[in-house]
Amino acid sequence: MLDFRSDTFTQSSEAMRKAMYEAETGDDVYGEDPTAQRLQRMAEEITGKEESLIVSSGCMGNLIPHMIKGGRGKEVLCAAEAHIVRHEIGAIVSLSGTLPVLVPSDNGIMRASEVEKSIHGYAYDMSETAMIETENTTSGLIYPFNELSAIKAIAEAHGLWVHMDGARIFNASVETGIPVCDYASTADDITFCLSKGLGCPAFSILSSSHEFIREAKRCRKILGGGMRQIGILAAAGIYALRNNIARLKEDHEHRVAISKALEECPWAEIIISETNMIFFRSSYPIQSIIDAFRRKGVLFLEDGGMARIVTSLNNTDEDIDEMVRIIRSMDEKELAV
Ligand SMILES: Cc1ncc(COP(=O)(O)O)c(C=O)c1O
Repeated sequence: MLDFRSDTFTQSSEAMRKAMYEAETGDDVYGEDPTAQRLQRMAEEITGKEESLIVSSGCMGNLIPHMIKGGRGKEVLCAAEAHIVRHEIGAIVSLSGTLPVLVPSDNGIMRASEVEKSIHGYAYDMSETAMIETENTTSGLIYPFNELSAIKAIAEAHGLWVHMDGARIFNASVETGIPVCDYASTADDITFCLSKGLGCPAFSILSSSHEFIREAKRCRKILGGGMRQIGILAAAGIYALRNNIARLKEDHEHRVAISKALEECPWAEIIISETNMIFFRSSYPIQSIIDAFRRKGVLFLEDGGMARIVTSLNNTDEDIDEMVRIIRSMDEKELAV
């Protein structure tokens, strides 16, 4: 099967598995896993933040900042499309107590002027604006750097914390050439995922100040995320940061090739095509399209009423040629079934 469901389906390469096999380990809850420590130091260099912490998942990397800087009676300003709103079972509400306030956005990209309009100060009967959340990339789209800088300036002027969900920050960085540390400088903390396009079996990283990470470690423990000999998985992270960042460009080139083929199809209206993601609408039911492609050995998913195709290191050049051929030869009668 050609698998375009998500970059979370990526498999660890043989070289990554070898690095995992050879990893030195210790008890990370006591800070004694040397491989985990090395990965965290690498993340600090990449993000330019004082300290980093391995967390079990992107969801945990998003939740912890809300536990620390949000909380009951506090608000986070974010887009309606944000992962914390749509795909984390409301954890920031149920577990941290933070209220998401939805700022108008363009497919998840908020304008600084819209963010500023949503900020309010103390009122006896209102929750208080405490945080702003940006997601970069968001549905594959790269946040314009000037917008991120403007959002950060507004946050500073109002004394607000900025959390960046940088699950796919490396996709943004390889595409624009803007270093991850520059993106990270537009937020007070950033989380990024190792388990998506970078091809690791698990883990995300949360990076910020010493003070923040000290608290984050306590939150991770509360959430049951204190883990022991995690060097085995951290070794995969080190391998990925050394070997799998630059190659994300290939995933983006693959996305362009698929997108071009779809553009020629009268039945597909592309809404988003950036980095490693394509979202398209159709005059046919999306499920019929997904089923028709599945019959031809291609997997992708529905997301927000659209078909979503995600390219990743699971896909070879030959897979992409085959996908383009299947798209071009698709008989519209099959889409209507
Ligand atoms: C933008 C974004 N943030 C956070 C997450 C959560 O990551 P995880 O599945 O590791 O919890 C995802 C997962 O796909 C994501 O796409």
